[in-house]
Amino acid sequence: MDKPVISLRNIWKTYSTGSIELTALKGITLDVYAGEFAAIMGPSGSGKSTLMHIIGCLDQKDEGEYFFKGNNIRDLNQNDLALLRNQEIGFVFQSFNLLPKLTLLENVALPMVYAAVNRKDRTSRAVHALQIVGLEPWMQHKPNEVSGGQKQRAAIARAMVMQPVLLIADEPTGNLDSRSSRDIMQLFQELNRSGTTIVLITHEADIASYAKRKLQVVDGQLVFDSTLHKSGDQEQSAG
Ligand SMILES: Nc1ncnc2c1ncn2[C@@H]1O[C@H](COP(=O)(O)OP(=O)(O)O)[C@@H](O)[C@H]1O
Ligand SMILES: [Mg+2]
Repeated sequence: MDKPVISLRNIWKTYSTGSIELTALKGITLDVYAGEFAAIMGPSGSGKSTLMHIIGCLDQKDEGEYFFKGNNIRDLNQNDLALLRNQEIGFVFQSFNLLPKLTLLENVALPMVYAAVNRKDRTSRAVHALQIVGLEPWMQHKPNEVSGGQKQRAAIARAMVMQPVLLIADEPTGNLDSRSSRDIMQLFQELNRSGTTIVLITHEADIASYAKRKLQVVDGQLVFDSTLHKSGDQEQSAG
């Protein structure tokens, strides 16, 4: 395997609210390589979203090092970080985060507006992304005119339209019924098969089971990594 897409080294993060300090991440070290589909599991409050915000460069760590495709995030200014989020990372959230006044097509085209892609290419690429997620017939609808599962498909199309190297999803099925959840997870599997690296956060084991690699965070620490577990087994059987 070549360079990791993301490489976290001893990441710490503390929130201060008034006089109260809460350490959400306590020394997270993690590599995720191109082509992986990793699920980060853990109970509510264990630090999953905090970790996701740091991976997505939406928030800064207090301690440790974060390398994205080999580049130390420390060396990037706000502009570089905005560019990185726009071009290299696709985001999917539990609450979809679609703009209610825009059609699905306009929502999906939005990342390309920020990237200054011309209007004609924006439309054709957004339509294509909507085709991939099976939403082309709905593309002129507003978010409140479609189901939760369809909203999340549109959000995934928006996340993929810039062809990011990394797709990160924080509890993407948290607001969906079980059938829509299954559809969304199958869509993630298809995107992963066609080469997208995915890091998904969930507190549900059946959702995590769609991923190839499973990690567990408890109280701000990584306590389980199925990759390490497997290599340990192989060493034993080889010995
Ligand atoms: N912006 C914030 N300010 C203060 N505390 C926070 C903030 N965000 C998260 N926390 C706290 O940090 C801990 C981890 O939260 P979070 O990363 O959201 O966990 P999870 O996503 O696993 O539920 C929790 O105790 C939470 O209350
Ligand atoms: Mg969370």
